[in-house]
Amino acid sequence: MNRVGPAERRRSSASGTDRASAKRRVTIREVARLAQVSIGTVSNVLNNPSVVSATTRRRVLDAIDSTRFVRNTAAHQLRVGKSRTIGVVLLDIANPFFTEIVRGAEHVLRDQDYVLMLCSTDESANREHRYFRVLEEHRVDGLLVCPVDSDLESAVALVARGIPTVLLDRDGSSHGLCSAAVDDIRGAELAADHLFDLGHQAIALVNGPAAIRQCIDRKEGARRSVQRARRCRSASLQEIVVGALTIDQGEAAVAALLAAEPRPSAVMCANDLLAFGVLRGLAAAGVAVPEEMAVVGYDDVVFASMLSPSLSSVRQPKYELGVAAAELLLEEVTGAPHEHRAIRFEPELVVRASSTPRPVSVPRALLSP
Ligand code: RIB
Repeated sequence: MNRVGPAERRRSSASGTDRASAKRRVTIREVARLAQVSIGTVSNVLNNPSVVSATTRRRVLDAIDSTRFVRNTAAHQLRVGKSRTIGVVLLDIANPFFTEIVRGAEHVLRDQDYVLMLCSTDESANREHRYFRVLEEHRVDGLLVCPVDSDLESAVALVARGIPTVLLDRDGSSHGLCSAAVDDIRGAELAADHLFDLGHQAIALVNGPAAIRQCIDRKEGARRSVQRARRCRSASLQEIVVGALTIDQGEAAVAALLAAEPRPSAVMCANDLLAFGVLRGLAAAGVAVPEEMAVVGYDDVVFASMLSPSLSSVRQPKYELGVAAAELLLEEVTGAPHEHRAIRFEPELVVRASSTPRPVSVPRALLSP
């Protein structure tokens, strides 16, 4: 058996004429010849090793190792119709809310030998449409999508073309789509109720574009809260809409926040990035938080607790949301018994220093013995 030893491989790679061949991909035919088996046997070792004897399998694997053969997945996927790739389309890859969701989904999918193709639409419907087409051309086996549009038509069209699709951070039940999301109306109610319960009368909502369903639901939650508060006291809600759910847009909203009439004494933000921007803008304007302006975010991303003052926020179970969405998608992609369902998580208010007056430090001498 003419095995290619390390010495021969070194000599052949030394000569100039072979440098080109050293860059050429090794073919499955060359592996079969070296292992003295058929191409079909090499393919079985790669795709269905249980049908190949241990001795032959060892000989083929040695040939693969010694030639550094890497199979052509594109050709393989054409044959078997599976790419073992999942497309993940998010609104903003820079938002730690999404990275935590992806971490949960990836942990589930990698255990089943799937890889992810990550795309960020930056809240652009055109970019989302282009990514859907590119991912379909790459024959992804399924999609996890946080949609830009509030009407879900693009996601429904993907499913109609036979691409299993599960929505992230968005309820899909109205369109018969699987989804994993949080009750955003309830989440916003928790934030606004907290501020009204602290005695604030005029609160503001710094919100993202109304095209994003989550922003619509968070406004509805704040509206329900202010309606309840009005039953027993003076209460008002002013919405400041920005162009995107980003830190810069949050900072830009501070001018409108401080000019609003009546001047709010508290502000809730549609997500933590907006809240980070609002905090940066308030600090630049010399406005004390929470004494002059209480601030509440939404998501409770990892940095919220690390700020000074630490940010009160509505916690979304991000990792768990990603796990749940990936498990739903796996059922669809693998053909396991499946019923389309919308998994809905409950939000939780995490109260920190940005909305509650700092405890007044009492001189020790005045403390009771
Ligand atoms: O998905 C839309 C928004 O909801 C994101 O910005 C994220 O922060 C979540 O809160």
